Amino acid sequence: MAKFEHHIFICTNQRPPENARGSCDSEGLGALQLAFKKELSARGLKSKVRANRAGCLDQCEHGPTVVIYPEGIWYGWVKAEEVAEIIDSHIINGKPVERLRLDNECINTPCCDHKTERKK
Ligand code: FES
Ligand SMILES: [Zn+2]
Repeated sequence: MAKFEHHIFICTNQRPPENARGSCDSEGLGALQLAFKKELSARGLKSKVRANRAGCLDQCEHGPTVVIYPEGIWYGWVKAEEVAEIIDSHIINGKPVERLRLDNECINTPCCDHKTERKK
């Protein structure tokens, strides 16, 4: 079997509703990961691109959070209806969807506006 060319990690973490950090998959249905799998499959990419469920990626305030390797490109507040665009632009054409990317200032920083205000 050929090596995977991309791994897409989709946070499917759940926390109780009262938790201030929120959670990327509050309903626990894994719907976003399933959307990635479905769109990859529709494009014949299942053997090249892996869409993995991930636990908390520690970017909860920006969730639902997705990261794509090997590029290490992060996306935030991803909706199922945006999955096809991410696959077509980023995975197939090599152009990350800038509009949906998380700012570098938001990733792995102790605080950002989103973490202090939970803007969405
Ligand atoms: S709950 Fe998704 S990044 Fe933490
Ligand atoms: Zn932020």
